[in-house]
Parts: sequence; structure tokens; C-alpha cells
Amino acid sequence: MEIRVLNPVIGAEVTGIELGRATDKELKRVRNLLLEHLVLFFPGQPLDLDQHVALGRRFGELEVHPNLPKASDSHPEVVQLRADHGGIADEWHSDVTFLPHPSVLSIMQMVECPESGGDTMWANQYEAYAQLSAPLREMLDGLRALHDAHPHGKPEMQAVHPVVRIHPETGRRSLLVNEHFTRRIVELSHGESKTLLEYLTQWSVRPEFSVRYQWSPSTVAMWDNRCTQHCVVNAFDGQRVINRVTVLGDDPAGDPPRWEPAISTTYTAQSRFDRQLVSYLRAEQASEQPQPT
Ligand code: SIN
Repeated sequence: MEIRVLNPVIGAEVTGIELGRATDKELKRVRNLLLEHLVLFFPGQPLDLDQHVALGRRFGELEVHPNLPKASDSHPEVVQLRADHGGIADEWHSDVTFLPHPSVLSIMQMVECPESGGDTMWANQYEAYAQLSAPLREMLDGLRALHDAHPHGKPEMQAVHPVVRIHPETGRRSLLVNEHFTRRIVELSHGESKTLLEYLTQWSVRPEFSVRYQWSPSTVAMWDNRCTQHCVVNAFDGQRVINRVTVLGDDPAGDPPRWEPAISTTYTAQSRFDRQLVSYLRAEQASEQPQPT
């Protein structure tokens, strides 16, 4: 395998491997490269749907995305996104953070792309955390945030995660908030949460934490969804079609929250995000009650 590092912070291109027929030893190396570079690009990998699914399964159990369109009825694990004038996946996000177990890993194939434009960017969330000031890092370590699937028209799909997660393999801390799915920091008031989230979601995708990739058809990208965000650059004309599988994740680990939620379950909330938080906290409280035997 040959590795071309795209920048020192995030991203490498890998050639000299056929993903559809990779040996266990090669995939072990790929896993290690992924932990080091966070997103890998493999040009010239024309996987069919069976091969795409089989490759994904070698990394773990695959998810069936609850909301997005699928490539075919016989391959429910493969999400297919099509666009011809921009406007798809063009807000920064990590995949499915509105679920209790956001994906560990995503494997995406560029099926068809415009001659120019339609690039994707990824940002390193370890760096985004590490380059904050020490007092802010210390505060963030004790906070949680509510995420929901509002962009998919499903605001009732919600999960609360630590704002700073600890990667189960590297032990490193990274930010876990994104502009697409994160709604509210649980322990802060509505206004404080809004201001801090605006700051963090802009900060975490700064160019110095990021790589931008220009696609060719049949290139496969693999990213560690636990420590990155990504976003399609919404500037292209012409068909852009991607297929993607995601490997089921675990419960993102972080430090325990150091403060109580900013609002109580008895609060009559005015704003949508406050109402949403109250309903989440009520459900959480109900699930903690001893069940009648
Ligand atoms: C995604 O958000 O997973 C899609 C990325 C892309 O289409 O480049």
C-alpha cells in the first residue's frame, strides 16, 4: 500500500489495495491508518452493492439508516444520496448523532460525480478540542448536548451525548457537537447554549482542522465518525450520486456531567428547544423509575 498524506492534520490517500479483495492483514493496516489520519481515500475501487456491504461488515455490524433513501430494496444498509444542483449533506455533521449510538465508521463510494465541484470536507475534532483554551475545555468536559433529526423531518428522534467524547481506541478527547443535529446544551440556559453552540460549531470546522477532497468516480472514502465532521461543498452542476454504509457505534463515553440540567422537568417551556429538552428529561427520568414488578 502507498500512503499519500493530504495534510498533517487530517486525510490520506491510499493506493495499492483492492478493497473488494483485501486480506485481513491489509484491513488491519487500514484500521490503523484510519486512527492516524481519520479519513482515507481509495481511488479506483468499483465496488458493487454486495461488495460494498461485505466490506462494511468486515468492520462491524452495519446500520440501516432510519431516515435516508436506500440504494436498493435488497440492500437496506446502503444509503444513496443523489443531487444535481448542490444542496445535499451541505451542513457540517457527524453521521446520525441524533441516535443513542452514532456510527463508528462510514464507508462511502462516489458512484457518479460532476466534472468539477461537489467536493467533500472533513474536520478533525480532536484538534478542534485540543486547540481551545484550558478553561473552556474544562467546562465543556462536564456538559452534555441534545441532538435531534430535525433536518430529516423527525425532531422526535433525539439523543443526549457528552459535548466532549473520549475515543474508545485512542483515548483522545474530541468535540461532539455539530450544526446539523445539535440543538441544545443541557446544563446551560437557552441563550447561553445558543451562543456557545454557535461558537463551537463554527470553531470546530475551521480550515486549519480540515481537508477538502475532489472526487473521481469509484473513489471510496472511509472516515472515523467518532472524531470527525464532514460537509459537502454546495457548488456543482450535474449528477452527484453516492452510496454509503455505516458501522453501528457504541454509547459515546465522556466525563460525567458536573451540573444539573438548566431546566427542570416541571418547567413549562416556551421555546421549541426548551420543550424538547423538557420532554427528553421527562422520558429519561421515567426510564430511571423502578419498574413495577
Ligand atoms: C454524507 O454526509 O455522508 C455524504 C457526504 C458526501 O456526499 O460527500
